[in-house]
Amino acid sequence: MPEERRLGEVPGPRGHWFWGSIQERRREPLQLFTRAHQEHGDFVRLRMGPTIHLLSLASPELIKHVLVDHADRYNKPPSFLRDVRDLLGNGLFSSEGDFWKRQRRLMQPSFHKERLATLAEGMVDVTGQMLARWRSHSTSAPLDIFSEMMRLTLAVVGRALFSTDVSGTAERVGQAMAVALEEVNYRGLSFGLRPPDFIPTARNRAWRRVLSTLDAIVFDIIARRREGQTHGDDLLATLMATQDADTGERMTDQQLRDETMTLFLAGHETTATALAWMWHLLSQHPDVEARARAEVDTVLGDRLPTADDLPHLRYLTQIFEETLRLYPPAWLFARQPVKEDVLAGVHIPASPRVIVTLNAYVLQRNPKLWPDPERFDPDRFSPEHAADRPRFSLLPFGGGQRLCIGNAFALMEATLITATVLQRFQLRALPGRPVEPEPLITLRPKGGLPMLLEPLSRPARVTLPA
Ligand code: HEM
Repeated sequence: MPEERRLGEVPGPRGHWFWGSIQERRREPLQLFTRAHQEHGDFVRLRMGPTIHLLSLASPELIKHVLVDHADRYNKPPSFLRDVRDLLGNGLFSSEGDFWKRQRRLMQPSFHKERLATLAEGMVDVTGQMLARWRSHSTSAPLDIFSEMMRLTLAVVGRALFSTDVSGTAERVGQAMAVALEEVNYRGLSFGLRPPDFIPTARNRAWRRVLSTLDAIVFDIIARRREGQTHGDDLLATLMATQDADTGERMTDQQLRDETMTLFLAGHETTATALAWMWHLLSQHPDVEARARAEVDTVLGDRLPTADDLPHLRYLTQIFEETLRLYPPAWLFARQPVKEDVLAGVHIPASPRVIVTLNAYVLQRNPKLWPDPERFDPDRFSPEHAADRPRFSLLPFGGGQRLCIGNAFALMEATLITATVLQRFQLRALPGRPVEPEPLITLRPKGGLPMLLEPLSRPARVTLPA
């Protein structure tokens, strides 16, 4: 038996004698991780200050070990969960153990393909509302497509959860949620260096206000639905109706509140950042865009897309998948070892001082797995090519039991939005404006994504809401 290596023997950048790589982690994380993996291999160790070891994993085998084979030895880091718990409570994203398992079992049916298909019309409808707004936008004034996509995906998830019977409410939740998201980002990136919640800073008070606004709205929606004052064929309806197969239990109001907030938060920023990157990539690759338009023309002509069209809009889906490879919104996510482990021959202690990160950004640009990795090539995701790729060479939605529950939702949403927009508009890059990634909690385009809108000149036969 080869001897186990100690944590300190995992190679990695030396960094500053005291701070290690903490400054670079803050200032230029993509460069730091990319360089570290190029120089030291798929398994690297970075010191974050004198006591914290950050392990970065970027190979399918290492990732499978942590997310699947020994998933019971790794939890989501408690510090991260603390930052989101006020907002997400014990929802699917932030719970662990048996409670999480039960909730996941209860929620899964709401995300089955047939169930999702009923949400397609709402997705196309809110996209139409955005395009109606775009029509009155000047063609010479840049529009921030990142903000537009955030607004759109927020509306999509609001509609999917609460349908239209609470008109205006989904929008109010959306506005409060946008503020909440900024705070969650701030908390996640302050690395513990922020005034604690009990100190009434302006920021902490604003946070409390947003939380009570959200609570008031969401509990009111749930109460009115329970009393039969509103109806809807939406996610809230399925979540309320679902019963635990073993115990017959249904979700309490508090659980419904937590899951609703979770779906709102987890379901919009990720999809919006990916869509923004997709519009950027399409503007840089006219050949891909032309093929996408040809597919839309052939499959849809001028009619709006439905769920039944999805299998035929395969190239559009591939474009989104290839975008997720180059710009994974969840570019890095973390675990903390809660039981001892041996990973690639290295002893991993169960310690809060060890952070294990799954590095989707580096993995998905690894030339051993992805030849010519910087090239944008949606054909990588054609059925023939996808078949011979190792499992876990791609990680946009995570993996193992905590795999994103909304992955099919996101792919369907992205494909429907892309088709609907392509029928009506061409989005052009702003000449001379560099577009760079900014790795916050998600991988956003830095400073937004201003683009120029060009309405298509062909006959306006697609009827969109005024
Ligand atoms: C392109 C869009 C999306 C991306 C890239 C994405 C990415 C991810 C990732 C990486 C995780 C796993 C995190 C971890 O294991 O630590 C996750 C979990 C989750 N996502 Fe998504 N997501 C997307 C869209 C959505 C949508 C549309 C929804 C809901 C409508 C959603 C709901 C969730 C939930 C509830 C979880 C927690 C699942 C669990 O732990 O059981 N996501 N997502």
